[in-house]
Amino acid sequence: MKHKIATQEAINLENKYGAHNYHPLPVVLSKGEGVYVWDVEGKKYFDFLSAYSAVNQGHCHPKIVGALKQQAEILTLTSRAFYNDVLGEYEKYITEYFGFDKVLPMNTGAEAVETAIKLTRKWAYEVKSIPENEAKIIVCENNFHGRTTTIISFSNDQDARKNFGPYTEGFIKIPYNDIAALKATLMQENIAGMLMEPIQGEAGVYVPYDGYLREAYQACKEANVLFVADEVQTGIARTGKLLACDHENVKPDVLILGKAISGGVYPVSAVLANDPVMNVIRPGQHGSTFGGNPLAAKVAMAALEVVKDENLAANAEKLGIIFRERMNALVKSSNLIASVRGKGLLNAVVINDSPESTTAWDICMLLKENGLLAKPTHGNIIRFAPPLVMTVDQLHECCDIIEKSVKQFEQKV
Ligand SMILES: Cc1ncc(COP(=O)(O)O)c(C=O)c1O
Repeated sequence: MKHKIATQEAINLENKYGAHNYHPLPVVLSKGEGVYVWDVEGKKYFDFLSAYSAVNQGHCHPKIVGALKQQAEILTLTSRAFYNDVLGEYEKYITEYFGFDKVLPMNTGAEAVETAIKLTRKWAYEVKSIPENEAKIIVCENNFHGRTTTIISFSNDQDARKNFGPYTEGFIKIPYNDIAALKATLMQENIAGMLMEPIQGEAGVYVPYDGYLREAYQACKEANVLFVADEVQTGIARTGKLLACDHENVKPDVLILGKAISGGVYPVSAVLANDPVMNVIRPGQHGSTFGGNPLAAKVAMAALEVVKDENLAANAEKLGIIFRERMNALVKSSNLIASVRGKGLLNAVVINDSPESTTAWDICMLLKENGLLAKPTHGNIIRFAPPLVMTVDQLHECCDIIEKSVKQFEQKV
């Protein structure tokens, strides 16, 4: 019989042989199905992180896994040196799905953000006629767009930045959710685009005021500046609409998607734009060996179909309201919980303690003991983002677990 690895053994292996670039909760997962995951000892948990919103369709969705298996036996990778018989079908599918002329397929979220930055700069030089090397892109404080050298150049998270310089130039940082700051910055010369998350996810689920996205979009239009939306985390039904921008009827000039376009089954990302922007990219100017491979294309089509077939946006909207109601009741009954915020099923609970305290981590450990997995972000904030296939009963069960864990923690201290 094959030796089954135990929790501590698996953790030791990762600690010894893997770079320490993450600080995981001490649970070792070996199986997933729908909203559940199981650890190596067979304990079952609700997954309340969904691989940072990549598993919106639930773990190992049979339709998506089926598409993967089927295509894996036919053709996996050709590179873009040749055409393949799936990519065109996928490009038609995804562009019609989101309403854009063209797509540029990549693999990870960070690569898609890099693609959008290159596209924005090239458009600025070739269409807007900004003088060479002068293009500037507006970004927001506390952004998170990934981990490449250019992307961390405009981060203000010291862990993400420190000792990774020299940094890439050409970015102007403004406060998030501040339309006056945006309008003032748009007056500067040589602004090519504005890159933003419609809701700041990693920062701790910061939802801008109603109307901000629309005002920001309109201000960009008036200044002939591209509005570039990074929906890697907020997209694909997570916030209760297909895209978070849909809440304000904003259609970005450049749309960045990743994570859940594949339902967490395969790394797939994409940049969508209309012809006047996308056509600035010509052969040899951008690409990726794996981007647009037939396996990714089939997986993404299946995953996007599931989002529509199972009405995941409507479910996220409905469950999000219940979740925030339940958490607001907890805010009233517990001194430990300061607030809850979010949209759809992208939510954060703020713990009433300093960001330097271990309270949020300790509560996540208790949640784990009680059968629910979630992770702190920025010290005293816990992000709650379950798969969107959850039922109302399951959600109530989860809220009961959260309530019970908070009460247990209060009794301990
Ligand atoms: C808004 C946003 N953009 C980009 C990324 C980077 O995606 P990836 O980790 O696939 O490179 C993330 C990842 O969390 C994200 O939340």
